[in-house]
Amino acid sequence: MSTKQIRDYYNSTKNSNVRADLAYATSLLKDYRIAIDCGCGAGSDIAFLRNNEFTVYAFDIEEESIRRCAKRFKHDEKVILSVDSFSSFVYPNASLILADASLLFCPPSEFDQVWTKIKQALSKRGVFCGTFLGPRDTMATTDYADSVFWPAGKVFTEAEVRKNFEGFNIATFSEIDLSGETDQGIAHHWHMYSVVAQKV
Ligand SMILES: C[S@@+](CC[C@H](N)C(=O)[O-])C[C@H]1O[C@@H](n2cnc3c(N)ncnc32)[C@H](O)[C@@H]1O
Repeated sequence: MSTKQIRDYYNSTKNSNVRADLAYATSLLKDYRIAIDCGCGAGSDIAFLRNNEFTVYAFDIEEESIRRCAKRFKHDEKVILSVDSFSSFVYPNASLILADASLLFCPPSEFDQVWTKIKQALSKRGVFCGTFLGPRDTMATTDYADSVFWPAGKVFTEAEVRKNFEGFNIATFSEIDLSGETDQGIAHHWHMYSVVAQKV
């Protein structure tokens, strides 16, 4: 993505409505409210989590994202930000790990190591909320141009997504399978699995 496309994307998502999955994930947690927002973008989920009394560690690979979030949350010491990738971030212990439309871009060669770190960082009864890239997504095809979004991450079948959650109770599991256009007017098919799961 060009710098302009990234700016436009963050402008259009900075006040996105909170996804039902995230609202539900937070409802599963009681007192220990430490969240990690992986690939936090313009920070709309950080704002929701702060309104729900979470301390939030948030990272993104894009400096533009963290620059914006640093400005947005500058008076809030319970938002801890860093420019990091999924693999460079040092995951603190957390009760909620959120990867909203971001794990889709974790490089396939890094996924297994990253997923191990995410599982280890979640406390007992901690909740994961996030999306995985499905095989029918345009990003999973050979003619996907990385310039549309970020380079595509690992592709999963439904069975493979479910296998990631051994040692969890899957609270909600949904499939997104729809055609449309990106913000840039480019035809795209979205195929993702969205999961909320609680560590046993
Ligand atoms: C589709 S946006 C979603 C942003 C935010 N989670 C939201 O729902 O509004 C994907 C985000 O993942 C970030 N990202 C892409 N590759 C990444 C990587 N390897 N490590 C960390 N963040 C990454 C992008 O910079 C972008 O902010």
